[in-house]
Amino acid sequence: MKLDFPRYTERLGTVSIHAVQRIYELDSGKSKGFQSSHQTVRKFDYDEISNIMHDLAIVIPIKNEKLKLLEGVLSGIPNECLVIIVSNSSRSPVDRFAMESEAVRQLSRFMDKRMIIVHQQDSGLAEVFKKTGYDSILDSEGNIRSGKAEGMIIGLLAAKMYHKDYVGFIDSDNYVPGAVNEYVKIFAAGFGMSTTPYCNVRVSWVFKPKVRNNALQFSKWGRVSEITNRNLNALLAAITGFETEVIKTGNAGEHALSMPLAECLHYTSGYSIETRELIDILEKFGGLMPSEYPQIVDKGVEIFQIETRNPHFHEDKGMAHLNEMLEASLATIFGSKICTPDLKKALQDQLKQMTKKRIDYSKKYHMLEPINAIHMPEFEKGVREKANTFLRIGLR
Ligand code: GDD
Ligand code: MG
Repeated sequence: MKLDFPRYTERLGTVSIHAVQRIYELDSGKSKGFQSSHQTVRKFDYDEISNIMHDLAIVIPIKNEKLKLLEGVLSGIPNECLVIIVSNSSRSPVDRFAMESEAVRQLSRFMDKRMIIVHQQDSGLAEVFKKTGYDSILDSEGNIRSGKAEGMIIGLLAAKMYHKDYVGFIDSDNYVPGAVNEYVKIFAAGFGMSTTPYCNVRVSWVFKPKVRNNALQFSKWGRVSEITNRNLNALLAAITGFETEVIKTGNAGEHALSMPLAECLHYTSGYSIETRELIDILEKFGGLMPSEYPQIVDKGVEIFQIETRNPHFHEDKGMAHLNEMLEASLATIFGSKICTPDLKKALQDQLKQMTKKRIDYSKKYHMLEPINAIHMPEFEKGVREKANTFLRIGLR
Protein backbone atom coordinates (compact mmCIF):
# COMPACT_ATOMS: atom_id res chain seq x y z
CA MET A 1 0.00 0.00 0.00
CA LYS A 2 1.19 3.50 -0.78
CA LEU A 3 -0.30 6.47 1.05
CA ASP A 4 0.39 10.06 2.08
CA PHE A 5 2.35 10.90 5.14
CA PRO A 6 0.11 13.19 7.20
CA ARG A 7 0.20 16.58 5.46
CA TYR A 8 -1.33 18.57 8.26
CA THR A 9 -1.88 17.92 11.98
CA GLU A 10 -3.92 19.64 14.67
CA ARG A 11 -2.31 19.25 18.08
CA LEU A 12 -4.24 19.43 21.30
CA GLY A 13 -2.20 18.70 24.39
CA THR A 14 -0.59 15.37 23.68
CA VAL A 15 -3.09 14.38 20.95
CA SER A 16 -2.16 14.68 17.26
CA ILE A 17 -5.10 14.65 14.88
CA HIS A 18 -3.81 14.06 11.38
CA ALA A 19 -5.77 15.37 8.40
CA VAL A 20 -7.20 12.84 5.93
CA GLN A 21 -4.53 10.85 4.10
CA ARG A 22 -4.95 9.52 0.54
CA ILE A 23 -4.02 6.12 -0.75
CA TYR A 24 -2.10 6.07 -4.04
CA GLU A 25 -1.82 2.33 -4.51
CA LEU A 26 -3.79 -0.35 -2.70
CA ASP A 27 -0.98 -2.75 -3.45
CA SER A 28 2.49 -1.39 -4.04
CA GLY A 29 4.25 -4.70 -4.51
CA LYS A 30 6.68 -6.69 -2.50
CA SER A 31 9.93 -4.76 -2.53
CA LYS A 32 10.78 -2.39 0.30
CA GLY A 33 11.40 1.34 0.07
CA PHE A 34 11.16 3.83 -2.75
CA GLN A 35 13.38 3.99 -5.82
CA SER A 36 13.00 7.76 -6.06
CA SER A 37 13.45 10.35 -3.34
CA HIS A 38 9.75 10.78 -2.54
CA GLN A 39 9.40 11.68 1.09
CA THR A 40 5.72 12.57 1.08
CA VAL A 41 4.48 9.06 0.46
CA ARG A 42 4.86 6.03 2.71
CA LYS A 43 5.11 2.60 1.12
CA PHE A 44 4.22 -0.59 2.97
CA ASP A 45 5.30 -3.87 1.45
CA TYR A 46 3.45 -7.19 1.91
CA ASP A 47 5.53 -8.35 4.84
CA GLU A 48 5.21 -5.16 6.82
CA ILE A 49 1.39 -5.14 6.52
CA SER A 50 1.23 -8.88 7.19
CA ASN A 51 3.33 -8.61 10.38
CA ILE A 52 0.98 -5.99 11.81
CA MET A 53 -2.09 -8.01 10.84
CA HIS A 54 -0.76 -10.93 12.89
CA ASP A 55 -1.25 -8.76 15.97
CA LEU A 56 -4.63 -7.42 14.83
CA ALA A 57 -8.08 -8.70 15.79
CA ILE A 58 -11.08 -7.66 13.71
CA VAL A 59 -14.32 -7.33 15.66
CA ILE A 60 -17.54 -7.65 13.66
CA PRO A 61 -20.73 -6.58 15.45
CA ILE A 62 -23.83 -8.16 13.94
CA LYS A 63 -27.53 -7.87 14.58
CA ASN A 64 -29.93 -9.65 12.26
CA GLU A 65 -27.99 -9.03 9.05
CA LYS A 66 -28.20 -11.15 5.91
CA LEU A 67 -25.88 -14.16 6.14
CA LYS A 68 -24.65 -13.53 2.62
CA LEU A 69 -23.28 -10.16 3.75
CA LEU A 70 -21.50 -11.66 6.76
CA GLU A 71 -19.98 -14.29 4.48
CA GLY A 72 -18.69 -11.57 2.15
CA VAL A 73 -17.23 -9.58 5.05
CA LEU A 74 -15.41 -12.67 6.37
CA SER A 75 -14.00 -13.40 2.92
CA GLY A 76 -12.52 -9.89 2.83
CA ILE A 77 -10.56 -10.19 6.09
CA PRO A 78 -6.93 -11.22 5.58
CA ASN A 79 -6.10 -14.63 7.04
CA GLU A 80 -3.53 -13.32 9.54
CA CYS A 81 -6.20 -11.53 11.60
CA LEU A 82 -8.14 -13.06 14.44
CA VAL A 83 -11.84 -12.59 13.66
CA ILE A 84 -14.27 -11.92 16.51
CA ILE A 85 -17.97 -11.88 15.69
CA VAL A 86 -20.21 -10.48 18.41
CA SER A 87 -23.83 -11.18 17.63
CA ASN A 88 -26.93 -9.63 19.08
CA SER A 89 -29.20 -11.37 16.57
CA SER A 90 -32.56 -12.75 17.63
CA ARG A 91 -32.74 -16.27 19.05
CA SER A 92 -36.45 -16.76 18.53
CA PRO A 93 -38.78 -17.49 16.80
CA VAL A 94 -35.89 -18.26 14.45
CA ASP A 95 -32.51 -18.74 16.08
CA ARG A 96 -30.49 -16.45 13.84
CA PHE A 97 -27.42 -16.84 16.06
CA ALA A 98 -27.48 -20.61 15.45
CA MET A 99 -27.64 -19.92 11.71
CA GLU A 100 -24.70 -17.52 11.96
CA SER A 101 -22.64 -19.97 14.01
CA GLU A 102 -23.34 -22.79 11.57
CA ALA A 103 -22.42 -20.64 8.58
CA VAL A 104 -19.22 -19.45 10.27
CA ARG A 105 -18.24 -22.98 11.23
CA GLN A 106 -18.78 -24.24 7.70
CA LEU A 107 -16.90 -21.33 6.13
CA SER A 108 -13.99 -21.70 8.52
CA ARG A 109 -13.32 -25.17 7.13
CA PHE A 110 -12.61 -23.64 3.74
CA MET A 111 -11.11 -20.35 4.89
CA ASP A 112 -8.95 -21.94 7.58
CA LYS A 113 -9.41 -18.80 9.66
CA ARG A 114 -9.12 -18.34 13.40
CA MET A 115 -12.49 -17.08 14.56
CA ILE A 116 -14.56 -16.49 17.66
CA ILE A 117 -18.32 -16.06 17.65
CA VAL A 118 -20.24 -15.13 20.77
CA HIS A 119 -23.77 -13.96 21.57
CA GLN A 120 -24.24 -10.66 23.39
CA GLN A 121 -27.16 -11.99 25.46
CA ASP A 122 -25.20 -14.97 26.80
CA SER A 123 -26.40 -15.19 30.42
CA GLY A 124 -23.17 -16.93 31.47
CA LEU A 125 -21.16 -14.05 30.05
CA ALA A 126 -23.38 -11.60 31.93
CA GLU A 127 -22.55 -13.52 35.12
CA VAL A 128 -18.85 -13.20 34.38
CA PHE A 129 -19.22 -9.43 33.99
CA LYS A 130 -21.07 -9.31 37.31
CA LYS A 131 -18.40 -11.39 39.01
CA THR A 132 -15.53 -9.31 37.67
CA GLY A 133 -17.28 -6.09 38.73
CA TYR A 134 -17.83 -4.72 35.22
CA ASP A 135 -21.38 -3.59 35.93
CA SER A 136 -21.59 -0.75 33.45
CA ILE A 137 -22.34 -3.20 30.62
CA LEU A 138 -25.29 -4.71 32.53
CA ASP A 139 -28.87 -3.47 32.80
CA SER A 140 -30.88 -3.34 36.04
CA GLU A 141 -31.82 -7.02 35.59
CA GLY A 142 -28.22 -8.13 35.24
CA ASN A 143 -28.41 -8.80 31.49
CA ILE A 144 -25.88 -7.47 29.00
CA ARG A 145 -27.26 -4.33 27.40
CA SER A 146 -28.05 -4.28 23.70
CA GLY A 147 -26.18 -1.91 21.42
CA LYS A 148 -23.30 -1.80 19.00
CA ALA A 149 -20.93 -0.30 21.60
CA GLU A 150 -21.69 -3.03 24.13
CA GLY A 151 -20.97 -5.64 21.44
CA MET A 152 -17.70 -3.91 20.65
CA ILE A 153 -16.62 -4.06 24.32
CA ILE A 154 -17.14 -7.83 24.31
CA GLY A 155 -15.05 -7.98 21.15
CA LEU A 156 -12.30 -5.89 22.74
CA LEU A 157 -12.15 -8.25 25.69
CA ALA A 158 -11.98 -11.32 23.44
CA ALA A 159 -9.08 -9.66 21.60
CA LYS A 160 -7.38 -8.99 24.92
CA MET A 161 -7.82 -12.64 25.90
CA TYR A 162 -5.77 -13.52 22.82
CA HIS A 163 -3.14 -10.84 23.58
CA LYS A 164 -3.79 -8.82 20.43
CA ASP A 165 -1.98 -5.46 20.20
CA TYR A 166 -4.54 -3.90 17.89
CA VAL A 167 -8.30 -4.13 17.40
CA GLY A 168 -10.26 -2.99 14.35
CA PHE A 169 -14.04 -2.78 14.00
CA ILE A 170 -15.86 -3.57 10.75
CA ASP A 171 -19.64 -3.62 10.29
CA SER A 172 -21.22 -6.86 9.11
CA ASP A 173 -23.63 -5.28 6.60
CA ASN A 174 -21.05 -4.41 3.96
CA TYR A 175 -21.81 -5.47 0.37
CA VAL A 176 -18.23 -5.30 -0.91
CA PRO A 177 -15.62 -7.79 0.38
CA GLY A 178 -12.86 -5.84 -1.43
CA ALA A 179 -13.72 -2.77 0.64
CA VAL A 180 -13.46 -4.81 3.84
CA ASN A 181 -10.05 -6.04 2.74
CA GLU A 182 -9.00 -2.42 2.21
CA TYR A 183 -10.22 -1.35 5.68
CA VAL A 184 -8.01 -3.96 7.34
CA LYS A 185 -4.97 -2.86 5.35
CA ILE A 186 -5.75 0.76 6.22
CA PHE A 187 -5.77 -0.17 9.92
CA ALA A 188 -2.41 -1.91 9.52
CA ALA A 189 -0.91 1.04 7.60
CA GLY A 190 -2.11 3.48 10.29
CA PHE A 191 -0.53 1.43 13.07
CA GLY A 192 2.61 1.07 10.97
CA MET A 193 2.86 4.85 10.64
CA SER A 194 2.22 5.60 14.28
CA THR A 195 5.12 6.84 16.35
CA THR A 196 3.40 5.99 19.65
CA PRO A 197 1.81 2.83 21.10
CA TYR A 198 -1.41 4.85 21.61
CA CYS A 199 -3.08 5.08 18.25
CA ASN A 200 -6.54 5.41 16.69
CA VAL A 201 -7.09 4.78 12.96
CA ARG A 202 -10.35 6.01 11.44
CA VAL A 203 -11.55 5.18 7.96
CA SER A 204 -12.88 7.99 5.80
CA TRP A 205 -15.01 6.65 2.94
CA VAL A 206 -14.15 8.15 -0.41
CA PHE A 207 -17.80 7.82 -1.52
CA LYS A 208 -21.00 6.49 -0.05
CA PRO A 209 -23.07 5.96 -3.20
CA LYS A 210 -26.84 6.27 -3.23
CA VAL A 211 -29.38 5.42 -5.90
CA ARG A 212 -31.24 8.51 -7.13
CA ASN A 213 -33.51 8.53 -10.19
CA ASN A 214 -32.31 5.05 -11.06
CA ALA A 215 -28.69 6.15 -11.23
CA LEU A 216 -25.80 5.84 -8.82
CA GLN A 217 -24.82 9.11 -7.19
CA PHE A 218 -21.38 9.11 -5.67
CA SER A 219 -22.08 11.32 -2.67
CA LYS A 220 -19.18 11.98 -0.35
CA TRP A 221 -20.83 12.80 2.96
CA GLY A 222 -24.04 11.64 4.52
CA ARG A 223 -26.09 14.17 6.52
CA VAL A 224 -25.12 12.61 9.86
CA SER A 225 -21.37 12.73 9.18
CA GLU A 226 -21.55 16.26 7.89
CA ILE A 227 -23.29 17.60 10.99
CA THR A 228 -21.21 15.55 13.45
CA ASN A 229 -17.93 16.62 11.84
CA ARG A 230 -18.98 20.27 11.76
CA ASN A 231 -19.72 20.21 15.49
CA LEU A 232 -16.53 18.34 16.38
CA ASN A 233 -14.52 20.89 14.40
CA ALA A 234 -16.44 23.67 16.16
CA LEU A 235 -15.35 22.11 19.46
CA LEU A 236 -11.69 22.17 18.38
CA ALA A 237 -12.07 25.77 17.17
CA ALA A 238 -13.66 26.82 20.45
CA ILE A 239 -10.72 25.32 22.34
CA THR A 240 -7.85 26.53 20.17
CA GLY A 241 -9.36 29.78 18.83
CA PHE A 242 -8.59 28.71 15.25
CA GLU A 243 -11.22 27.40 12.87
CA THR A 244 -10.45 24.00 11.41
CA GLU A 245 -11.92 21.30 9.18
CA VAL A 246 -9.50 18.59 10.23
CA ILE A 247 -12.08 16.11 11.57
CA LYS A 248 -13.79 14.11 8.83
CA THR A 249 -14.46 10.85 10.63
CA GLY A 250 -16.63 11.66 13.67
CA ASN A 251 -18.96 8.77 12.85
CA ALA A 252 -16.45 6.36 11.29
CA GLY A 253 -18.04 2.92 11.78
CA GLU A 254 -14.79 1.36 10.58
CA HIS A 255 -12.05 2.30 13.01
CA ALA A 256 -9.27 0.70 15.02
CA LEU A 257 -7.44 1.21 18.30
CA SER A 258 -4.18 -0.01 19.71
CA MET A 259 -4.98 -2.11 22.79
CA PRO A 260 -3.02 0.06 25.28
CA LEU A 261 -5.21 2.99 24.25
CA ALA A 262 -8.47 1.03 23.84
CA GLU A 263 -8.35 -0.38 27.35
CA CYS A 264 -8.12 3.07 28.98
CA LEU A 265 -11.05 4.72 27.27
CA HIS A 266 -14.57 5.28 28.54
CA TYR A 267 -17.15 4.44 25.90
CA THR A 268 -20.84 5.27 25.56
CA SER A 269 -23.65 3.04 24.47
CA GLY A 270 -25.02 2.19 21.03
CA TYR A 271 -24.16 4.33 18.04
CA SER A 272 -22.63 7.14 20.10
CA ILE A 273 -19.41 5.14 20.48
CA GLU A 274 -17.44 6.44 17.50
CA THR A 275 -17.94 10.07 18.48
CA ARG A 276 -17.28 9.24 22.14
CA GLU A 277 -14.00 7.55 21.28
CA LEU A 278 -12.70 10.82 19.81
CA ILE A 279 -14.11 12.98 22.58
CA ASP A 280 -12.72 10.65 25.23
CA ILE A 281 -9.23 10.84 23.75
CA LEU A 282 -9.47 14.65 23.78
CA GLU A 283 -10.84 14.71 27.33
CA LYS A 284 -8.15 12.41 28.70
CA PHE A 285 -5.11 13.53 26.70
CA GLY A 286 -5.99 16.89 25.10
CA GLY A 287 -4.32 18.81 27.92
CA LEU A 288 -7.53 20.45 29.10
CA MET A 289 -8.10 18.22 32.11
CA PRO A 290 -5.68 16.34 34.36
CA SER A 291 -4.85 12.87 33.05
CA GLU A 292 -4.71 9.64 35.03
CA TYR A 293 -2.32 8.17 32.50
CA PRO A 294 1.09 9.92 32.64
CA GLN A 295 2.69 7.20 30.48
CA ILE A 296 0.25 7.99 27.65
CA VAL A 297 0.69 11.74 28.08
CA ASP A 298 4.42 11.17 27.84
CA LYS A 299 4.27 9.20 24.57
CA GLY A 300 1.29 11.00 23.01
CA VAL A 301 -1.77 9.77 21.10
CA GLU A 302 -2.04 9.79 17.32
CA ILE A 303 -5.30 9.82 15.36
CA PHE A 304 -5.07 8.87 11.69
CA GLN A 305 -7.88 9.42 9.19
CA ILE A 306 -7.29 7.47 6.00
CA GLU A 307 -9.47 7.73 2.91
CA THR A 308 -10.46 4.55 1.10
CA ARG A 309 -10.28 3.89 -2.60
CA ASN A 310 -13.35 1.63 -2.48
CA PRO A 311 -16.78 3.23 -2.12
CA HIS A 312 -18.88 2.08 0.84
CA PHE A 313 -22.04 0.10 0.10
CA HIS A 314 -24.03 -1.12 3.09
CA GLU A 315 -27.63 -1.84 4.11
CA ASP A 316 -29.94 1.17 4.05
CA LYS A 317 -31.63 1.27 7.46
CA GLY A 318 -33.86 4.30 6.87
CA MET A 319 -34.33 7.86 8.05
CA ALA A 320 -35.39 7.21 11.67
CA HIS A 321 -32.19 5.22 12.18
CA LEU A 322 -30.08 8.08 10.82
CA ASN A 323 -31.78 10.56 13.13
CA GLU A 324 -31.09 8.26 16.06
CA MET A 325 -27.41 8.21 15.12
CA LEU A 326 -27.21 11.99 14.75
CA GLU A 327 -28.89 12.49 18.12
CA ALA A 328 -26.38 10.13 19.72
CA SER A 329 -23.42 11.96 18.19
CA LEU A 330 -24.61 15.47 19.07
CA ALA A 331 -25.54 14.40 22.59
CA THR A 332 -22.04 12.96 23.05
CA ILE A 333 -20.38 16.27 22.15
CA PHE A 334 -22.95 18.15 24.27
CA GLY A 335 -22.21 15.91 27.29
CA SER A 336 -18.44 16.32 27.09
CA LYS A 337 -16.62 17.96 29.96
CA ILE A 338 -14.56 19.94 27.46
CA CYS A 339 -17.54 21.32 25.52
CA THR A 340 -17.64 25.14 25.78
CA PRO A 341 -20.82 26.91 27.00
CA ASP A 342 -21.53 28.50 23.58
CA LEU A 343 -21.23 25.20 21.73
CA LYS A 344 -23.31 23.48 24.41
CA LYS A 345 -26.08 26.00 23.81
CA ALA A 346 -25.86 25.53 20.01
CA LEU A 347 -25.98 21.73 20.41
CA GLN A 348 -28.89 21.92 22.81
CA ASP A 349 -30.83 23.97 20.23
CA GLN A 350 -30.05 21.46 17.46
CA LEU A 351 -31.08 18.53 19.67
CA LYS A 352 -34.28 20.22 20.77
CA GLN A 353 -35.19 20.96 17.18
CA MET A 354 -34.76 17.27 16.34
CA THR A 355 -36.49 15.70 19.30
CA LYS A 356 -38.90 18.49 20.39
CA LYS A 357 -38.19 17.69 24.02
CA ARG A 358 -35.56 17.90 26.74
CA ILE A 359 -33.84 14.58 27.37
CA ASP A 360 -31.36 13.57 30.05
CA TYR A 361 -28.64 12.36 27.72
CA SER A 362 -26.33 11.14 30.47
CA LYS A 363 -29.01 8.49 31.15
CA LYS A 364 -29.88 7.81 27.50
CA TYR A 365 -26.27 7.13 26.47
CA HIS A 366 -24.81 5.59 29.57
CA MET A 367 -21.09 5.39 30.21
CA LEU A 368 -19.17 2.13 29.82
CA GLU A 369 -16.13 1.99 32.09
CA PRO A 370 -12.60 1.33 30.74
CA ILE A 371 -11.95 -2.40 30.35
CA ASN A 372 -8.61 -2.12 32.16
CA ALA A 373 -10.69 -2.37 35.35
CA ILE A 374 -11.35 -6.05 34.58
CA HIS A 375 -9.06 -8.70 36.06
CA MET A 376 -8.30 -10.68 32.91
CA PRO A 377 -7.36 -14.11 34.36
CA GLU A 378 -10.66 -14.14 36.28
CA PHE A 379 -12.57 -12.98 33.19
CA GLU A 380 -10.97 -15.65 30.99
CA LYS A 381 -11.64 -18.40 33.50
CA GLY A 382 -15.26 -17.26 33.77
CA VAL A 383 -15.69 -17.22 30.00
CA ARG A 384 -14.33 -20.75 29.68
CA GLU A 385 -16.59 -22.06 32.43
CA LYS A 386 -19.79 -20.10 31.91
CA ALA A 387 -20.14 -18.48 28.47
CA ASN A 388 -21.87 -21.25 26.53
CA THR A 389 -22.17 -19.32 23.30
CA PHE A 390 -18.46 -18.38 23.17
CA LEU A 391 -17.31 -20.57 20.28
CA ARG A 392 -13.66 -20.80 19.29
CA ILE A 393 -12.92 -21.96 15.78
CA GLY A 394 -9.34 -22.89 14.91
CA LEU A 395 -8.25 -21.71 18.36
CA ARG A 396 -7.60 -23.24 21.74
N1 GDD B 1 -23.35 -6.95 18.49
C1 GDD B 1 -24.20 -6.01 18.08
N2 GDD B 1 -25.13 -5.56 18.99
N3 GDD B 1 -24.15 -5.52 16.82
C2 GDD B 1 -25.03 -4.57 16.46
C3 GDD B 1 -26.02 -4.07 17.35
C4 GDD B 1 -26.08 -4.63 18.68
O1 GDD B 1 -26.91 -4.30 19.51
N4 GDD B 1 -26.75 -3.13 16.67
C5 GDD B 1 -26.21 -3.05 15.43
N5 GDD B 1 -25.19 -3.91 15.29
C6 GDD B 1 -24.33 -4.13 14.12
C7 GDD B 1 -25.05 -4.18 12.78
O2 GDD B 1 -25.48 -5.47 12.46
C8 GDD B 1 -23.96 -3.68 11.83
O3 GDD B 1 -23.07 -4.71 11.48
C9 GDD B 1 -23.19 -2.69 12.69
O4 GDD B 1 -23.48 -3.00 14.04
C10 GDD B 1 -23.58 -1.24 12.39
O5 GDD B 1 -24.97 -1.09 12.55
P1 GDD B 1 -25.89 -0.43 11.43
O6 GDD B 1 -27.26 -0.50 11.94
O7 GDD B 1 -25.61 -1.01 10.09
O8 GDD B 1 -25.40 1.07 11.50
P2 GDD B 1 -25.24 2.10 10.32
O9 GDD B 1 -24.76 1.47 9.08
O10 GDD B 1 -26.43 2.94 10.20
O11 GDD B 1 -24.08 2.99 10.92
C11 GDD B 1 -22.75 2.55 10.90
O12 GDD B 1 -21.97 3.53 10.28
C12 GDD B 1 -21.95 4.77 10.98
C13 GDD B 1 -21.14 5.73 10.16
O13 GDD B 1 -21.84 6.07 9.01
C14 GDD B 1 -22.33 2.29 12.34
O14 GDD B 1 -21.08 1.67 12.32
C15 GDD B 1 -22.25 3.57 13.14
O15 GDD B 1 -21.74 3.30 14.43
C16 GDD B 1 -21.41 4.57 12.38
O16 GDD B 1 -21.40 5.80 13.08
MG1 MG C 1 -24.75 -0.25 8.29
